[in-house]
Amino acid sequence: EASFELCPSILAADFSCLARDVQAADAAGADAFHIDIMDGHFVPAISFGPGMVRTMRALTRKPLDVHLMVDRPLDLVAELAALGVERVSVHAEVPGGPGAALAAIRAAGMQGGLVLNPETPVETAGAYLPLISQLLLMTVQPGRGGQPYLPGSNARIAAAQALLQTAPHPVTIQVDGGITARTLPGAWAAGARSVVAGSAVFDGDIARNIAVLRRSVFP
Ligand code: DX5
Ligand code: ZN
Repeated sequence: EASFELCPSILAADFSCLARDVQAADAAGADAFHIDIMDGHFVPAISFGPGMVRTMRALTRKPLDVHLMVDRPLDLVAELAALGVERVSVHAEVPGGPGAALAAIRAAGMQGGLVLNPETPVETAGAYLPLISQLLLMTVQPGRGGQPYLPGSNARIAAAQALLQTAPHPVTIQVDGGITARTLPGAWAAGARSVVAGSAVFDGDIARNIAVLRRSVFP
């Protein structure tokens, strides 16, 4: 199971009991925590910012996987590095493109990820492969949790898997949105190895939910 990474998205946690929820997920075997930063411009919603990252760093030693849904990702890179973030993912669709932010993430010693919205061609990733360790395929429209997994996502994962054979180093495929015990096996079979799950982890019994997700891949 070494190649399977489960990343709970704290967007779906109970913010009034964040420490409780994060520690429950951590103890139940979460591999990393996914933090969705939204600026109200790149996506309509505003979620939280670096203050939440600081809080998370105090709550867990697991890697922090930050997903930037913001128009100006470069502005956040130095602060995230200073807070001890391991991995930062930037959307291909940002104004001016993701190249400068991805280069800064690498230069700051963090792992870079490129995010593709559902309608963005998988081939877009080709130009950025030298800068990234992760390719995050959105399997819903970004901006909120609890949406259904989009049909066609597994074909996109498989296409990305083929593209990544040409990468100069290993690049992990991450999926985000609509992941449940029903949709996860198909994503895994298509080649996703890092999986973000929000509502499927935090709605209800967190330890049980994580066990159910793992069992869907390793029965
Ligand atoms: C959506 C976020 C996701 C979200 C996933 O824009 O990027 O990380 O938290 O939530 P679920 O797993 O409930 O679809
Ligand atoms: Zn996300």
